[in-house]
Amino acid sequence: MTDRVYIFDTTLRDGEQSPGCSMNFTEKIRMARQLERLQVDVIEAGFPIASEGDFESVKEIAKQIRTVTIAGLSRANKGDIDRAWESLKHAAKPRIHTFIATSDIHLKYKLKKSREEVLDAAVKAVRLAKSYCDDVEFSCEDASRSDIDYLCQIVEAVIAEGATVVNIPDTVGYAIPNDYGKIMRSLVERVPNINKVILSAHCHDDLGMAVANSLAAVMNGARQIECTVNGIGERAGNASLEEIAMSIRTRTEALNVHTNINTEEIYKSSKLLVSLTGMHIQRNKAIVGDNAFAHEAGIHQDGMLKNSITYEIMTPQSVGIKHSTLVLGKHSGRHALKQRYAELGYNLSNEELERAYLVFTKVADEKKQIFDDDLVAILQDELSNLEETYKLETFQVTSGLNLVPTATVGLKKGNEFFQDSATGDGPVDAAYRAIERITGIGVELLDYSIKSVAWGRDAIGEVFVKIAIDGYVFNGRSASTDVITGSVKAYLNAINHAVSARFRKERDSSVRQEAQAV
Ligand code: KIV
Ligand code: ZN
Repeated sequence: MTDRVYIFDTTLRDGEQSPGCSMNFTEKIRMARQLERLQVDVIEAGFPIASEGDFESVKEIAKQIRTVTIAGLSRANKGDIDRAWESLKHAAKPRIHTFIATSDIHLKYKLKKSREEVLDAAVKAVRLAKSYCDDVEFSCEDASRSDIDYLCQIVEAVIAEGATVVNIPDTVGYAIPNDYGKIMRSLVERVPNINKVILSAHCHDDLGMAVANSLAAVMNGARQIECTVNGIGERAGNASLEEIAMSIRTRTEALNVHTNINTEEIYKSSKLLVSLTGMHIQRNKAIVGDNAFAHEAGIHQDGMLKNSITYEIMTPQSVGIKHSTLVLGKHSGRHALKQRYAELGYNLSNEELERAYLVFTKVADEKKQIFDDDLVAILQDELSNLEETYKLETFQVTSGLNLVPTATVGLKKGNEFFQDSATGDGPVDAAYRAIERITGIGVELLDYSIKSVAWGRDAIGEVFVKIAIDGYVFNGRSASTDVITGSVKAYLNAINHAVSARFRKERDSSVRQEAQAV
C-alpha cells in the first residue's frame, strides 16, 4: 500500500492574490465547490486579515464546504491569528495556517528581527493558534534560503507547541530538486519530533521547477503538497495541482504514493478557473492545455489510430477530457483525414477522399490548423457535383484609400478564356461587375454575407451570396482564407447554379417537345 500525499490547494489564497487572478465573493464560492468535487484535502480559502472581502469569503467557504479542511492564512501575530480564527470557526474542519520568514535575508531586510525574536514569534503564534483549533500549520517563509540548522531548530520548536503540519516553502522558486529534496531529508533525519507532523512542500515556479521540486520533496518524506489549479500564483506561479496529481497517478510505481484527487474533475476545475479569472493558459500547458491531448504529426496520428498508448501516457478521460484530438494540419495523412470525416458523419469513397485530401493539403498549406467546419466547407465546395460552366482562372484587384477599386477577372468557359475589368464601390463589387461583363448575365445581388468558420487570424472565411437572374433566385457559397477570392468564387458559384438550372430547363423542355412530337 502506498502512502497518501495530501493535496493542499491554495488557488484561492496564493493563486488569487497574484495579478490578474482576483475573484469576487461568489466566484470564490463557486471555485471552492469545484475544489471539493476535485477532492482536494485542504482548501486555503484566503488571508482573512488582508481585507474584508477575504474575511467574508473564508467565512462563507468555511460554512458551506463541509467535507474538506478549510485553512486561513495569518502572519505570526495575534491580530492576524484572531481574525483568521474568527472566519474559520464555522468550518467543520478548520486549520489555522500561520507563517513567518526564517531566512537571514528576510530577517535582516524585511522583518529586521533576530533569529531568537523570530523563533519566539513562531512559538507564540503556534501556541495561540493551537488554543483555538487543533489543526495548526506553520510555514517557514523562504525556507529554501534559510540556514538549515536554524530551520531544524524552529521546526522542532513549533512541533513542540503542537503544530500539526510544517510547511517548507520555496517562496522565491530558487530551489532545484536535489537541494530541495535534501532540505526535507535533513528535517526528517535531524528534527527529533518530526514524526508528529505532516511535512509539507510549497514551491513557486520562478525557475520552472515547482512541480519537480514538490515531487523531490515527496521522495524525501513530505506528505503534503501545496499547489494551485493551473499553477496560478505569485510571479511565475505555484506548483500546478493537475501536474502533481497526474504525475503521482501516472508514475505511482516510481513515487510510491497516491493522492485522493478525483482526477476526472481536473479539466473542469481548470476551465472554471479560467472562466472566473480570465487568466488563460498556454495551449501546450501540461494536462489541461488545448494541445495536451492533440496530435498533429502524421506518424503520431497513425500510431494513435492503431493504439493510443503509442503516444499518450495517460488517457484524456482520466483528467475529464472526452477524447484526444487528431489535429488536422499540413502534417496529417489520408488516414487521419478519413477518420475525422467518418467521425463527422461522412464516409468518403477512396475517390472522394483523394479529392478532399488534395484540397485539404492546399488549405493546410495556407492555414496552420484545420477545424471541423473547415473540413465540411471543403466537402461542400469541392465534392458538390455542380457543373462549373465558368471557372475562375485569374483575378486581380486594386483597392485602397483614395483609389478607385478596380478588378480584372479571367474566366474559363470550356476551352475559351475571357478577361475583363471593371471598377466598383469596393474590390468585391468591382470583381462582380467584371464577371457580369464577361458572362453577359444581368445579375441582381440580393444578399452577401461573410463569416469566419473557425477561429484564428488565418481562419477560413465562408461567403454566401444570393442573386436573382430573370426573377429566379440562386445561392452561391465558397470558403477561402482569402475573403476576396471567397467572395468572387461564391458569386461565380451562384451564376453556375443559374446557368446549370437554365441548361437543365432547356434540356428538359426539349426532351418534352421531342416526346410530344413522337
Ligand atoms: O510562498 C510562501 O512562502 C507562502 C507562505 C505564506 C506559505 O505562500
Ligand atoms: Zn507561496
